[in-house]
Amino acid sequence: MSAPETAPEATDDPPATGSSTGTGTGTAYDAHFRVWRGDIEGGELTDFTVEVNEGEVVLDIIHRIQATQAPDLAVRWNCKAGKCGSCSAEINGRPRLLCMTRMSVFSRTDTITVTPLRAFPVVRDLVTDVGYNYAKAREVPAFVPPEGLGPGEYRMRQEDVGRSQEFRKCIECFLCQDTCHVVRDHEENKRPFAGPRFLMRVAELDMHPLDAAEDEGLDRKSAAQEEHGLGYCNITKCCTEVCPEGIRITDNALIPLKERAADRKYDPLVWLGNKIRRRTT
Ligand code: SF4
Ligand code: SF4
Ligand code: FES
Repeated sequence: MSAPETAPEATDDPPATGSSTGTGTGTAYDAHFRVWRGDIEGGELTDFTVEVNEGEVVLDIIHRIQATQAPDLAVRWNCKAGKCGSCSAEINGRPRLLCMTRMSVFSRTDTITVTPLRAFPVVRDLVTDVGYNYAKAREVPAFVPPEGLGPGEYRMRQEDVGRSQEFRKCIECFLCQDTCHVVRDHEENKRPFAGPRFLMRVAELDMHPLDAAEDEGLDRKSAAQEEHGLGYCNITKCCTEVCPEGIRITDNALIPLKERAADRKYDPLVWLGNKIRRRTT
């Protein structure tokens, strides 16, 4: 089963730039947490009253609950620096990184609810099976190097380099995949829809000036529509709003990819050019 729905969050967060461990200073207070506990069979929210110290992030508090009250509480994390993408969960119903959400964004009297990612099956407690995303990653054909050029001989405009660099900031936290309404409550859409993270990858490759996929007969624009479900996206920008890397997924990847796919399909000159090109190759 997927995680339960939780109340919407009341407070926006300021930029979080890292985390620190609690120092036990005089600013400590007790916070009320509700943490979802269970497995694929079902579960429930469990209440904890837990100490919070200045400078701490939500992951620190989950660790303190593990250390003092629930040693078997399952949570996935690695870097505690917003770089590995493994601590994704939902805090007050919003997809977030546990290690990059500062406790200072909440009021001391708030109840803070932590639940697993809603769009993916629960393994245990806050840990979900994100295998869907790896399956989708494998469905996107890799960059096709241009014939006759070796690594080191590529030349690209800075604008093209910048676009790839923005998309390559992705830490594969899958918060964008989790928040996208196309799959969030629609398991049946997971087969035809790749999700924002992987449509962004298709867009990166389709706009890459050196990608020679078309010379190999691979039409990434058609594939975006027919194999990766680009048409399901109605550019709501929810994916962009939750991306911890600030990648402008919708504006810089999804909308341009939609425009390119529409040009390919409906512009008669583009259609004719492609026909001629295909015949001469
Ligand atoms: S913009 Fe598209 S991919 Fe992003 S959340 Fe909305 S529907 Fe999903
Ligand atoms: S695009 Fe952003 S939200 Fe989506 S997986 Fe990458 S880093 Fe996470
Ligand atoms: S633990 Fe690595 S991103 Fe949070």
